[in-house]
Amino acid sequence: MIDKLTLTDDLFIGAGGHQATYIHPIDRSKCIKIPHDPNDGDVKKELRYRRICEKKLENSKLITKYFGTVDTDKGLGYVFERVLDLDGQTSKDLKDFLPSNDPTADELKIIKKILIDFKENFLREKIAIVDTDITNFMVQEIAANEYLMRIVDNIGTPVAIPLVYYFDFAAEWKCKRYWNFLADWLYRHYPKIVDENFFEELRV
Ligand SMILES: Nc1ncnc2c1ncn2[C@@H]1O[C@H](COP(=O)(O)OP(=O)(O)O)[C@@H](O)[C@H]1O
Ligand SMILES: [Mg+2]
Repeated sequence: MIDKLTLTDDLFIGAGGHQATYIHPIDRSKCIKIPHDPNDGDVKKELRYRRICEKKLENSKLITKYFGTVDTDKGLGYVFERVLDLDGQTSKDLKDFLPSNDPTADELKIIKKILIDFKENFLREKIAIVDTDITNFMVQEIAANEYLMRIVDNIGTPVAIPLVYYFDFAAEWKCKRYWNFLADWLYRHYPKIVDENFFEELRV
């Protein structure tokens, strides 16, 4: 019999409105998410999307791999790939990654490339997301000064009949819409990074 995994405080990564995330105690390449409320619909919504669109999401660069559930001392946990930098530390989310002061020219160049690359990947993969909270995107260092922006939360849609799961044109429409929301949000909150010209370049 496999004992429950113990999630100690030192393994805690972060928490949002729905779940707390911990480093997996015996496999540091994975993380475990524990819903604050076991009946919370958020993770169920994400798992429904992953199940229905399994084939399409199989080779996604943007979303993390899912490995099933485990019993923990904090309740039922959902195991995902942990988004890691080259040094083995958890990557920063987009909010922590973006400089709050004026970005340097080098920082600006790196951030613009991250956003342009994300736009290309996101529009190609047409991932269904439900909001544009920037803490749900993580910026992973994949080589020296090279980054990949990943999506770690709020994946799927809560609607009863999710057309975007079944029809490519609906998935495309929705992902363009959400991409424009995100670009617009960044333009309004980070005008030193997404200025008017860059905003025009980003939006579709
Ligand atoms: N796959 C992951 N790898 C590493 N850290 C993660 C991962 N998923 C989430 N996190 C961290 O845990 C936090 C909370 O997880 P999240 O899924 O966003 O919960 P919530 O639904 O409550 O917002 C995130 O903001 C992020 O910092
Ligand atoms: Mg979140």
